[in-house]
Amino acid sequence: MMTSLELIKEAIKAQKRSQSKYSKFPVGCALLSDDNEVIHGCNIESAVYPSTMCAERVAIYSAISKGITNFNAIAIVSNNSAKPCGSCRQIIYEYVGNVPIYISDSNAEKIDTLYIKDLLPHPFG
Ligand code: THU
Repeated sequence: MMTSLELIKEAIKAQKRSQSKYSKFPVGCALLSDDNEVIHGCNIESAVYPSTMCAERVAIYSAISKGITNFNAIAIVSNNSAKPCGSCRQIIYEYVGNVPIYISDSNAEKIDTLYIKDLLPHPFG
């Protein structure tokens, strides 16, 4: 088992790997699988700005490509406890499901627990 704080600390580790020299807004994500594996993601920016990928989708796509498709929780860390963008909400809805989403700042001080049914109340698909 893993506590929400432990999962947030994994997302803080991932945030430190962020490649965000254009926005200077590092984001980290940690996904907890149903068999207690942690999959990390960080945002990765490109000089071709639209080629940037968010931390959440890096983590989700990485997990799925490793064959991990069932999740118990997700933690997202940024410097101001930012909520996931619309594209990430859609992908969380489709591939992660209605699990607790721990949204934290980089010091694990300001933590919200939300669910995708509240963040994306009228989904497509
Ligand atoms: N970003 C994320 O990683 N996740 C989100 O949900 C919102 C935005 C990243 C993308 C970009 O690298 C930076 O934050 C600024 O938008």
